[in-house]
Amino acid sequence: MKFFIDTADTDAIRDLIPSGFVDGVTTNPSLIAKSGRDFKEVVQEICAFVDGPVSAEVTALDTKGMIEEGKRVAGWADNVCVKLPLTWAGLEACNALSAQSISTNVTLCFSANQALLAAKAGATFISPFIGRLDDIGEDGCDLIAEIRILYDNYGFDTEILAASIRSLEHMENCALIGADVATAPPNVIRDMANHELTDKGLAAFMADWAQSGQNI
Ligand code: E4P
Repeated sequence: MKFFIDTADTDAIRDLIPSGFVDGVTTNPSLIAKSGRDFKEVVQEICAFVDGPVSAEVTALDTKGMIEEGKRVAGWADNVCVKLPLTWAGLEACNALSAQSISTNVTLCFSANQALLAAKAGATFISPFIGRLDDIGEDGCDLIAEIRILYDNYGFDTEILAASIRSLEHMENCALIGADVATAPPNVIRDMANHELTDKGLAAFMADWAQSGQNI
């Protein structure tokens, strides 16, 4: 399972690089706005130090505009992945950009039918949003499981990029279901390493070691 970092905070991504867990990055217009920085500058900076796909989202709403923006954004760096919303226009743009071997991430997916269309449009990644389905009382992880079955039924190459991940439970469930990628904020990735029994056990080992009076 690949880990993408869901942020436009370049310092937070840099801090995670030594862990070896950064397989890619996802951004969206809200995250770019939150960074307060220029879109192209942020994307190019991330692409320069991340060895993996970096999703950058178009903001046009019509097919022609999305294709034009997608081509422009794809030219910013070799590892840019063009993010397109799951609308009819977004699917048409995905079809056109995929035909030109441009990497695509179809985002804002909330149903298995939408995921089926994205795969048929040649999407490199499909991004189902788990947390936002949980927000409306559904179980977002169920959608990941449905898409896994659907894609395996037909051998689609489109990778399932589980998004809107907000908890350790989301991460575990996505891995158990077999999502290809999980994109999560830096704090969720870091929290995966924590367990209270690890802390307790380490404190006991250190206390006993101090008693032994030895050094390594
Ligand atoms: C993914 O590509 C999105 O940027 C992100 O996961 C959305 O997460 P949110 O629903 O927590 O905003």
